[in-house]
Amino acid sequence: MRLIRAKDYQDASRKVANIISAQVILKPDCVLGLATGSSPVGAYQQMIKWCDKGDVDFSQTKTVNLDEYVGLAADHDQSYAYFMRKNFFDGINIDQKNTNLPNGLELDAAKECARYDKVIADLGGVDLQLLGIGANGHIGFNEPAEQFSVGTNRVDLTASTIAANSRFFENESMVPRQAYTMGMMAIMQAKRIVMIATGANKAQAVYDAFCGPVTPQMPASILQLHPDFVLVADEEALSLVGDKL
Ligand code: F6R
Repeated sequence: MRLIRAKDYQDASRKVANIISAQVILKPDCVLGLATGSSPVGAYQQMIKWCDKGDVDFSQTKTVNLDEYVGLAADHDQSYAYFMRKNFFDGINIDQKNTNLPNGLELDAAKECARYDKVIADLGGVDLQLLGIGANGHIGFNEPAEQFSVGTNRVDLTASTIAANSRFFENESMVPRQAYTMGMMAIMQAKRIVMIATGANKAQAVYDAFCGPVTPQMPASILQLHPDFVLVADEEALSLVGDKL
């Protein structure tokens, strides 16, 4: 793995935006794997500015998102489909037909997981996958478990993830209890993976994931095995890592 040290969230966001933009410039019809949550928002805002100036062109780019809440329609204001439109897609010149997320309204999990895995396979897999990290080490919604997931799967969100994500909802009881998430196979098959981790509340997860053993109890630790994994992290997120990486 490679570590890129950033000063703070803004610095990390610009660095990640540069890496993603370089990918799109080198291969305009590339497949980007995208994430939601607070971590990637700064990078998305930066790329919207560069796209506006004509520096990056997303017109041929395709995207697959990591996850979606079960039970939320794409136009629900807490769905990840809505989040992506509001925070990124509506601000860039991407063809919305080239953007893909799991369908939270499909309640037949086997059918939806198979459909989404086929979407990813038909695109030829992911060129560059962007990840955040949960405070419990999850990537996508692949929560700590006895085994690593393989394909797209429907997961029960852990209490800590529900609590962490309740900040986006009126109250905790409104947070969906399940989500569809891309599995570890599609994530690990991405040609390059970039993770953005910032803030003190990610320090323990970053330390455990990248300075500890590879274990499904710390899902992000599997990234240690990826041949082209880049961690962009700020000083706070690296506070426990020190010089160990
Ligand atoms: C979101 C996702 C999650 C988040 C993680 C961190 O699509 O896949 O794994 O990246 O929960 O969330 P934030 O960035 O809000 O701290």
